[in-house]
Amino acid sequence: MSDGKTVKVGIIGAGKIAHVHANFYKNVPFVEVVGVADIVPGKAAEAAKAWGVPAENAFEDYRDLLEKVQMDAVSICTFNQAHRAPTVDALEAGKHILLEKPMAATFEDAQAIMRAWKAAGDRILMVGFQPDFSSEHMAAFDIVRSGTLGDVYYGEAVTCRRWGIPGGTFMKKWSAGAGTLVDTGVYAIHTMLTLMGNPKPVAVSAMTTNVLGKAYKGVGYGWGGAWKAEDLEVEEFASAFVRFENGAVMVLKTSWAVNADSMGVPFVLGTKGGLSLEPLTVYVNQGLGDLNLTSTVKNLEHQSFDTQWIGKMTAFAEAVRDGKPSPIDTEAVFLVNVVMDGVLRSAESGFEARVKASY
Ligand SMILES: NC(=O)c1ccc[n+]([C@@H]2O[C@H](COP(=O)([O-])OP(=O)(O)OC[C@H]3O[C@@H](n4cnc5c(N)ncnc54)[C@H](O)[C@@H]3O)[C@@H](O)[C@H]2O)c1
Repeated sequence: MSDGKTVKVGIIGAGKIAHVHANFYKNVPFVEVVGVADIVPGKAAEAAKAWGVPAENAFEDYRDLLEKVQMDAVSICTFNQAHRAPTVDALEAGKHILLEKPMAATFEDAQAIMRAWKAAGDRILMVGFQPDFSSEHMAAFDIVRSGTLGDVYYGEAVTCRRWGIPGGTFMKKWSAGAGTLVDTGVYAIHTMLTLMGNPKPVAVSAMTTNVLGKAYKGVGYGWGGAWKAEDLEVEEFASAFVRFENGAVMVLKTSWAVNADSMGVPFVLGTKGGLSLEPLTVYVNQGLGDLNLTSTVKNLEHQSFDTQWIGKMTAFAEAVRDGKPSPIDTEAVFLVNVVMDGVLRSAESGFEARVKASY
């Protein structure tokens, strides 16, 4: 850090989420966005203009940004299949990293990123799951850490869009790697693994499909832009049964498109209690005979999109400024990629896939 107080940040990838990063960094008074890179000619220059970054600090090649601009940290906002190279290079250049979810599109890329992070010593590698900064998730994580649930032996990781295929780079294997699993499912898996104490996955049995999107007639619209059925190369629905080393099990359900309004809420079961989200509810009866006690938490305030994002950007910047570890456990986030690797391999083969959390 140049003056010990200002955290200087560059942004790699100047697509949609990069603008969200730049916007929310403005809420952190000690952060300055000082450079940007995007492979599409003109895109970084346009973003630099919009963000008030000097024109000479906008590049097409992110390696120029890493070499020429003095920065403490970078936000990696490239599409999933382009997470690995800038993350590894930025870690090698000594930068702290705020990496957009998922850690990587493929298990091999996630392993390479983890090796680079280990080799980089005390550098922060934070994968940006902003729901971790919602008051509901923070309270749920606190309740689990307090031991209220006892030993957790089962969890359901759920995220459901009845109709929300995003289009654009999200639908293509070359850019996204996979579909709802790595886009929205990744949040559900990360949240549930955290609630379960981050057990090591050992086996996954899964199915995936894109039958509704493939039958869609006309033009759909989503976060990434317009799309047609023939554009869809990845799954719109995934379900899995995940076994962990400690004997616990997780069921996963995630969709961009499904003929249902809901596939249920995320929940965990423990030896002393259970907990469900949306809304946060705790179920206990241990020590009280057959008295079933149910508590719904009522005083949760900071749930909005904005407060989650401000929480994410602030937590990252403070960790960089104060020399602290990543606010989101990097080793735990790698386990999400271990699960996703099992889901994709099992769905492809039609059989259970063994997985190993090593890199
Ligand atoms: N946290 C969230 O809420 C959230 C929401 C949407 C997307 N995302 C994540 O953000 C990432 C980007 O999503 P998006 O919607 O902005 O996609 P996008 O396609 O709009 O933007 C990606 C950008 O990366 C650029 N790019 C690709 N390879 C590059 C490289 N090697 N060097 C420099 N630039 C490169 C592309 O040209 C493009 O401009 C994805 O990983 C996605 O999962 C997170």
